[in-house]
Amino acid sequence: MADESARRRATPEWYAGGIDHVWLPYTQMKTAPPPVPVVRTHGSRIVLADGRELIDGIASWWTACHGYNHPHIRQAVERQLAVLPHVMFGGLAHEEALRLARRLVAMLPRPLTRVFFSDSGSVAVEVALKMALQYWLNAGVRGKVRFVAFKGAYHGDTLGAMAVSDLDAGMHAAFSGVLPRHFRIDLPRDAASAAALETLLARHADEIAAIIVEPLVQGAGGMRFHEEEVLRRLRALADRHGLLLICDEIFTGFGRTGTMFACEAAGIVPDIVTLSKALTGGTLPLAATVASDRVFRAFWSDDPAKALMHGPTYMANALACAAANASLDLFAQEARLRQVAAIAAQMERELGLCRGLPDVRDVRVRGAVGVVELAEIRDLDALRARFLELDVFVRPIENVIYLTPAFTITPDELGRLTEAVVAVVRGRG
Ligand SMILES: Cc1ncc(COP(=O)(O)O)c(C=O)c1O
Repeated sequence: MADESARRRATPEWYAGGIDHVWLPYTQMKTAPPPVPVVRTHGSRIVLADGRELIDGIASWWTACHGYNHPHIRQAVERQLAVLPHVMFGGLAHEEALRLARRLVAMLPRPLTRVFFSDSGSVAVEVALKMALQYWLNAGVRGKVRFVAFKGAYHGDTLGAMAVSDLDAGMHAAFSGVLPRHFRIDLPRDAASAAALETLLARHADEIAAIIVEPLVQGAGGMRFHEEEVLRRLRALADRHGLLLICDEIFTGFGRTGTMFACEAAGIVPDIVTLSKALTGGTLPLAATVASDRVFRAFWSDDPAKALMHGPTYMANALACAAANASLDLFAQEARLRQVAAIAAQMERELGLCRGLPDVRDVRVRGAVGVVELAEIRDLDALRARFLELDVFVRPIENVIYLTPAFTITPDELGRLTEAVVAVVRGRG
C-alpha cells in the first residue's frame, strides 16, 4: 500500500530507538506486527505518528470512560502535581485519598465502608484474596484456604489472580501445575449448575474462604454475560455456607454495564469489591479493594498480628486520587449512564447486522459492551491489522470481536466502529 511507505517514513526516532528494548504485553514478539506509534489522544481518537486518526473502540482496556484528555481531569491532575504529587500512605494521609475513599463508600452499597488503595487491578484482586484468607485466620477459623472461581473468569496476571482465573480456557494454562489449586466450576446459570455449586459448597465449605466472581460480564475471558439472578444465587449460597463473596468490578465498575456498579443491578452487596480501570477515567494507575464492616472488624484488634500486612509503595498516589475524584465529578455532572444506554441501543441495532452472517455464533450487548462472537478467529493478528486499515482501533480476543468505547463517543464515531466490525465480519465470509 502507498501509505505503508509513508508510515515507515513517519516512524519517529523515539520509536526506532526504543522498540527493540521493550517487552510487549500478551505478544509473541517474533511473529506479531509491531505496535503502531501514537503521538496524541483526544476524545475517542488516537493520533498516530503518520498523522492518521484512529477511532478507539477499546478505551484503552476499558479505562478511558470520559474519552481521552478530558480537561476536567487534566486540570485536577495539574493542580495536584503542583501541590503534592505523592507521599507514602504509611504514617501519612492526604486529602485526595480520603476524599476519594469517602466518595467511593457513598456510591457503593452499605456496608462496604473500608477502602484499601493499590495501583493495579491484579494487585486489588491479590489484596481481596489476602483479606479473605486473613479474615478467617483472624476469626480463629483454620483451613479455609481455597477459593471458588468460575470457568471463563479472568482476574489478572499476578500469581494469585491467575490462580482464580480460568487456567484451562485462558492464556495462563502453562502455570496450572505451579499455582494453588482452587475450585473452578460453571457459573450457576441454571438449575443444574446451581445444584453442582451447592453440592461443591456443601462438601467443601470448611476449606473455602470466598467465592470470587466478575459480576454480569466475564471480560477478558471472552466477554460472556450472565443474568443478575446468577449473582443473587451466589450471594444466597455464600450466606448459606458462611463464605465471603468477592465481586471483581474492575471491568464492570463505573457504568460499563449500565449501572454504576454491576452488583447494584442485581441488588446484592458483596463482602469485598475490587475496582480499577475506569476509576481514574483512564489517566493514572489506581485500584481499590473495598471491604464491608464485617470484614474490616475481623482485623480491628489490639493484636498487631491481626493487621493487614500489605502496602504497595504507590498506593493512594495523590495524582491518581485527584484524577479519580475528577472522574467522579464527571459522573455526577454529566449524563454518563444515559450515554451508556444510548451506546447500548446503537450497538444493538448496528452490530445486530452481523446476526446470521457466516461464522457468527452470537451478537450480544450489555451496556457499553458490544460483542460479536465468531466460531473461531484463525489469525488474530491479521484481523487486528484489518481494523487498523479501516482507521479504527479494535482488538479482538480469542474468538470475540468486541467494542467497549468511551461513554462520550459520538454516534458518528460509534457508527464508524460498528461499520468496520460489520465489514470485517462480512469480509471473512
Ligand atoms: C475483571 C478484571 N480483574 C482484574 C484485572 C486485572 O487488572 P490489571 O490489568 O490492572 O492488573 C482485569 C484486567 O483486565 C479485569 O478485567
